[in-house]
Amino acid sequence: MSKPAARAAALRAQLAYHDHRYYVLDDPEVPDAEYDRLMRELRELEAAHPELVSGDSPTQRVSGTPSTSFAAVVHGVPMLSLENAFEDTDVVDFDRRVRQRLGREGANEDEGANEDEVEYCAEPKLDGLAVSIRYEQGVLARAATRGDGTTGEDVTANVRTMRCIPLRLSGAVPAELEVRGEVFMPFAGFRRLNEEAAAAGEKLFVNPRNAAAGALRQLDSAVTARRPLAVFFYAAGTWRGSGEPATQQQLLAQFNAWGLRTNPQARVVRGVGGCLGYYRALAARRDSLAYQIDGVVYKVNRRADQEALGQVSRAPRWAIAHKFPADEALTILRTVEFQVGRTGVLTPVARLDPVMVGGASVSNATLHNMDEIERKDLRLGDTVIIRRAGDVIPEVVRALAERRPAAARRIELPEYCPVCASPVARVDGEAAARCTGGFICAAQRKEALRHFASRRALDIEGLGEKLIDQLVERGMIATPPDLYALQLTELAALERMGEKSAANVLAALERSKRTTLPRFLYALGIRDVGEATAAALAAHFGALAALRAASIEQILEVPDVGPVIAAHVHAFFAAPANRAIIDRLIAAGFNWPEGAPTARAKGALEGVTVVLTGTLATMTREAAGAALQALGAKVSGSVSKRTSYVVAGEEAGSKLARARELGVSVLDEAGLAQLLRGERPASQA
Ligand code: IVH
Repeated sequence: MSKPAARAAALRAQLAYHDHRYYVLDDPEVPDAEYDRLMRELRELEAAHPELVSGDSPTQRVSGTPSTSFAAVVHGVPMLSLENAFEDTDVVDFDRRVRQRLGREGANEDEGANEDEVEYCAEPKLDGLAVSIRYEQGVLARAATRGDGTTGEDVTANVRTMRCIPLRLSGAVPAELEVRGEVFMPFAGFRRLNEEAAAAGEKLFVNPRNAAAGALRQLDSAVTARRPLAVFFYAAGTWRGSGEPATQQQLLAQFNAWGLRTNPQARVVRGVGGCLGYYRALAARRDSLAYQIDGVVYKVNRRADQEALGQVSRAPRWAIAHKFPADEALTILRTVEFQVGRTGVLTPVARLDPVMVGGASVSNATLHNMDEIERKDLRLGDTVIIRRAGDVIPEVVRALAERRPAAARRIELPEYCPVCASPVARVDGEAAARCTGGFICAAQRKEALRHFASRRALDIEGLGEKLIDQLVERGMIATPPDLYALQLTELAALERMGEKSAANVLAALERSKRTTLPRFLYALGIRDVGEATAAALAAHFGALAALRAASIEQILEVPDVGPVIAAHVHAFFAAPANRAIIDRLIAAGFNWPEGAPTARAKGALEGVTVVLTGTLATMTREAAGAALQALGAKVSGSVSKRTSYVVAGEEAGSKLARARELGVSVLDEAGLAQLLRGERPASQA
């Protein structure tokens, strides 16, 4: 066999396979664009080698084989398909052919609008399923799918359940009438249907078109009745009786008068300019429509002209479908790279063979997280469907299992961070995998420094996000101890700084060195160690040295600390880079009051009731409350005789007064620290 002949045979076999999946099984394997590409290649091949055209070539018929489940219906007038236009030039060529055949080629194409321009009726091309409905004396008699264009399936019982289709037309009607239109499922109904399917653990529908096709081809019409289907009518078949409308526009108006829904977006436009203008305007609004469309159909408006133009094989010469750029395409998944975000989360990104999707070349797509990769069972080397909707980041829809090469490899989460080589941790039950590097990791540096300086951590006034960005980007700092080596002149030379603010920042840095152990621990940004946990750790171990030396088992003894936090804390202090950072901070002058460790702190404050009031300097009231509760104390909002302690911060008011009145013990923050160590101090005020 010659090379083109072999290729044509291969293409025919593939197209036949996809036709079967699409029309008979309602379960397409590839996006429409891929099907179109194969069909186009076969057409071009046959055009170049006419001797290869065979009667059984899919180019010679309208797709679709009637399923055996429904009775066959022979259409009175065949249901045609449409030629596709993908580029503006295809539409220009179409319009030129129309004008030539109608004898209007005398038109001067440079002079804009003139009477030789052809009027077209333009309307959205719906992504649904074509039906033909036969009315006899205005009464719905039979409904059929398109099938292969000549013979369809009898879906009368199912169509009769659709409330948007009248069982009887209103007004004067031809004795015999076939109306054609598109049955589709609006997005809202599609989403609801899939939510219900998900809740019931059933298979989800790939897209609204398949959901609509599945609903219409139900053997049990009670199921169809529950599916949210809609319809727009756009053409007539058999028409026996009263006169036919002169234009497509009047046909649509007549349909409306009878009670048949037509697309309210339909417009009459002039010439190729009018067509392309309509196309662009609709493309811009595509995302705001309530249903899926895949392009625009232009139809010569005058029906006498339609008649004169006739048809080639199974497509009319008087109409063309101008498709939107496909928003799905097939390509190969080559590698997966992991990007590290500012909080240390690793996001897998697919690197693809470049492919045109939605009018743009796509070579990367997000994969979200490892769970997603596992759920979609993606492998390196897989053929994957890429989708791009509107401006959103392209995503990988799924892999074609049928095309997996034997050498396809599994996608593994790296053990070490691609940025800083610290171990990567993936917590059970969490989708995200994270780099444990913290300060050490260049990707997380800015975020870690921002946290270090934040109000509830070391509260370094003037050291905001913008300043941190500048310092990191200029390589002036990488980790917190670097902050304490900054010089006035280098700070003052930065954007938006100057002597005065530089001096203020240095003063704030100096002040931050005098702190408390809970604040210091919180500022380190250990994963999952919030203010309350920092306070509990500080109270339990009393001194930093004890915490640094603690085993996981010892950390687990801290009230409210579970195995996940214990592992994070232990890993943090085990990393040499973190130990070096802490040592340098202490060498720079960091200091805080340390207390004795409280062994057996759990439940140490059982039976104690504490009221917190005023502003605390060392931690927020919420954090203090949580830490106290972790030790077994009850934290209350109002003072009574049963209150054991009132902890009074700055500007304490009525609660402090009430405590004095009732003779309840009042503590300052040193007393609070004692409480947090599990001690029960005597009143201090
Ligand atoms: S007119 C002779 N108008 O597209 C003209 N078709 O690719 C017949 N379709 O089988 C079709 N929206 O299922 C027409 N506004 C529209 C359409 C439309 C969707 C479908 C229809 C047809 C297929 C051809």
